[in-house]
Amino acid sequence: MAYSSTVMEHFTHPRNVGKIDGADGVGEVGNAKCGDIMKMYLKIDGDVITDVKFNTFGCGAAIATSSMATELIKGKTVGEALTLTNKAVVEALDGLPAVKLHCSVLAEEAVKAAIADYYIKNGQEPPPETVTAGHDCDECDIHGH
Ligand code: FES
Repeated sequence: MAYSSTVMEHFTHPRNVGKIDGADGVGEVGNAKCGDIMKMYLKIDGDVITDVKFNTFGCGAAIATSSMATELIKGKTVGEALTLTNKAVVEALDGLPAVKLHCSVLAEEAVKAAIADYYIKNGQEPPPETVTAGHDCDECDIHGH
């Protein structure tokens, strides 16, 4: 399966690239297997994500999925962003080749890690939805992805 035109478009023109100084939540995740790293910054006003930026050192699919993930959570509430799944990111991108699905998992994890950091910064326990254990690439490989 080749990359969809939406993936190519987000890869060549990624949205929301950069860094937010004084971000309310910062999440950094990596995939030990491919070595790719994704860092996500959130600006949260009240309960709404008013700004989001990312930096991804990784493959094209990792860049496209982080770009799409930022678009999907911008302007949403923290609670809505917590329901973001890698599947929703993949669907919004009109699909990803199976071998690249783990890249979308990194995007979901980065959003959740940034939200967890937001809770911690506010002296609160991060909600259970921020825990994304079980989404690792070894597991994907076992299932033949
Ligand atoms: Fe690692 Fe894409 S190959 S995130």
